[in-house]
Amino acid sequence: AAEPDLVGRHVVVSAGGTREPLDPVRFLGNRSSGKQGYALARTAAARGARVTLIAANTSLPDPAGVDVVPVGTAVQLREAVLGAAADADAVVMAAAVADFRPAVYAAGKIKKKDDRDPEPVALVRNPDILAEISGSRARPGQVIVGFAAETDEVLANGRAKLKRKGCDLLVVNEVGERRTFGSEENEAVVLGADGSETPVPHGPKEALADTVWDLVAARLS
Ligand code: C5P
Repeated sequence: AAEPDLVGRHVVVSAGGTREPLDPVRFLGNRSSGKQGYALARTAAARGARVTLIAANTSLPDPAGVDVVPVGTAVQLREAVLGAAADADAVVMAAAVADFRPAVYAAGKIKKKDDRDPEPVALVRNPDILAEISGSRARPGQVIVGFAAETDEVLANGRAKLKRKGCDLLVVNEVGERRTFGSEENEAVVLGADGSETPVPHGPKEALADTVWDLVAARLS
């Protein structure tokens, strides 16, 4: 059985991928399945934490004993995370948040005009939730964890991102067409703001989740 080292703690985990609507039937989205975030929620609950799981467009069963808050867009995810983070000991941002959203939402389905070239889609920047909660912590000592999917220069890009975002830990993994997304397994390095580097060998997403909670628990105590 898992060590009950998160008893009395409230942790917030975001999972899945945001969808940014263009019109009532279309959206800009990504391939995140939510499996890593759900594994984080399950393992935190097994270690005794009260868990709020902010789930963006996932189709996975609710983990037992976890408070699940469904959301759609990045703006909705931000509201839910900020609300839940107010009394949280730790926040883990495993969700794939769209960096941009369509500048305009068309209330009716966008029509194709046969005799005309398609209109370009104008985008505006979404709020960076991880940077925001790291920059103004709801509580002193709150531990904030980000995820970064990189295709090259994984460690160097990860270090730069950790600094830019201002979080305590950044889980960096290499992605590619046949890696990570929708898979049951993961392989990563967890970078710490204190300079630490914790490699996590290829294995189940639960194993990576437990390593993340080990590092979080060490920073909470
Ligand atoms: O900058 P990048 O998207 O690579 O950063 C990934 C990390 O930042 C993830 O933890 C993700 O949940 C978070 N993020 C966020 N808000 C955004 C974009 C990413 O919180 N708008």
